Amino acid sequence: MQNDILEVLYSEQDIQEKVKEMGELLSRDFEGRNPLVICVLKGAFIFMSDLVKRMTVPLEIDFMAVSSYGQSTKSSGVVKIVKDLDVPVEGRHILIVEDIIDSGLTLSYLIDVLERRNALSITVAALFDKPARRTTDLEADYKGFSIPDAFVVGYGLDYAEKYRNLPYVGILKPEVYSH
Ligand code: PRP
Ligand code: MN
Ligand code: MG
Repeated sequence: MQNDILEVLYSEQDIQEKVKEMGELLSRDFEGRNPLVICVLKGAFIFMSDLVKRMTVPLEIDFMAVSSYGQSTKSSGVVKIVKDLDVPVEGRHILIVEDIIDSGLTLSYLIDVLERRNALSITVAALFDKPARRTTDLEADYKGFSIPDAFVVGYGLDYAEKYRNLPYVGILKPEVYSH
């Protein structure tokens, strides 16, 4: 698996330091608000678990999974809920946790859904941001790293469902996906 990585962009230590920093900021800003922290499956599962360990305020967690319809790519903007939340969001402070914002379509869809369900506030924490690929005007409220438009995997990010379990984030070798 390591042999498929061209270059490590963020080491395990780089990531853990950043997550700790983000957890401290979020703890300060969510004091007394009992946030419902939503993990966007599957990519955000590792970031989510590390981040909430760095949050020192009372909070609740839930999970949501979305995907694009059928064969269409995400650039179509058509997304459906594959796994919904277990609890109502009405009147709650929501913290959406994402591994990466690319086009922004996944998040803009999620935010729209949660707004229609009358969330009291919606905040986004994303560990990685690929601004070059954005097709919406969406920005994370809490951002870890801005990354180049390369094929990155690890720490939750996959290629064909693989590499999510790497503890670091790296660029995939082109020969892995070019055939
Ligand atoms: C990836 C990533 C984000 C989304 C970002 O998820 O985890 O959720 O794409 O792209 P966008 O900003 O263009 O919408 P993916 O749909 O690959 O599902 P996964 O989390 O299960 O890997
Ligand atoms: Mn995802
Ligand atoms: Mg994916």
